[in-house]
Amino acid sequence: MLLRIDDLHVHYKSYWYVNQVLNGVWLRMDEGERIGIVGETGSGKTTLLKTILRILPQNSSIPRGTIKYREIDILKASEAELSKVRRSEIGMIFQDPMAALNPVFKIKDQLYDVIKYKFLADGSNPSKAVLHEHALGVLESVSLPDPERVLESFPFQLSGGMRQRVMIAMALLSAGKLLLADEPTTNIDVTLQDQILRLIDKLVKQRGLSTILVSHALGMVRQMTDRAYVLYAGDIMEEARTGELLDHPKHPYTDLLVSSAPKISSRRIGEGIRGKLPDYRSPPAGCRFAPRCPYAMDKCHKVKPKRTALNAEHVVACHLYE
Ligand SMILES: Nc1ncnc2c1ncn2[C@@H]1O[C@H](COP(=O)(O)OP(=O)(O)OP(=O)(O)O)[C@@H](O)[C@H]1O
Ligand SMILES: [Mg+2]
Repeated sequence: MLLRIDDLHVHYKSYWYVNQVLNGVWLRMDEGERIGIVGETGSGKTTLLKTILRILPQNSSIPRGTIKYREIDILKASEAELSKVRRSEIGMIFQDPMAALNPVFKIKDQLYDVIKYKFLADGSNPSKAVLHEHALGVLESVSLPDPERVLESFPFQLSGGMRQRVMIAMALLSAGKLLLADEPTTNIDVTLQDQILRLIDKLVKQRGLSTILVSHALGMVRQMTDRAYVLYAGDIMEEARTGELLDHPKHPYTDLLVSSAPKISSRRIGEGIRGKLPDYRSPPAGCRFAPRCPYAMDKCHKVKPKRTALNAEHVVACHLYE
């Protein structure tokens, strides 16, 4: 087992209220697996990835749950242990590349920093020339044209597609084992999206990485993952082999998600489902999807459904299957 998440709860607090976002998330993955997480906007996908790296914002709290990454208990690990995980084990491609890159430093300084750490960890202190050489190699690996110029640029001087590639390069430097990709193509031109995806796919295969891909785009998830989880309003609703999940969805939410999947690419998933996500300040007591569910029974509004295994790989959290 590479990663195992159990009963994970994450809240965001403000002075006036508490957003109870993640509500008992579970996830398992083995080394080498490619996992997908799908769910409409606001369902907690980014929150989940950030929790794995323990990079949640200040106003968050984790009232319950465990995250076991290899031998490390992520929620109890020391800052030193976490820093090692973030720098050499798990890399993350962020939804917003501008947020991931520091606007006041040139690309070279940000890359040198990460590369230098890798050398220091191996007990050697690289010269500027060695850092430069490596940084060029890293940029070339993500097919960035004119890497010398990119190194001398500030993030705002690059196009969206170029920033995305720089960020992928940085994420891969840290991703010794696991790559977390949060909507890796949302901020780039449609014509480039496919290229970027293929690039990620190639690099992941070359390096034998495990991946968690978060996406609205079901087609992308079908293409790039072996198994997938459906997250709705902070709850995992269903889990299965990706093909099985998309072709034979069992949970009413997954079913609606798949059947209303945008035929027009500009529409986001979930928009075809009547109603909207519940308010995280006072979420439904039972199934969080019950208020929107066409099959909701009395019980659904009161009792949170348990996980029901339909077979070894297909799990659904719905009273219809209990
Ligand atoms: N720092 C924060 N303080 C308060 N609420 C937050 C904070 N960060 C996120 N949230 C709320 O948590 C919920 C889940 O957000 P999250 O970004 O994890 O969703 P997501 O599934 O990644 O959405 P998207 O698909 O739009 O990226 C949202 O309602 C969001 O407003
Ligand atoms: Mg997100």
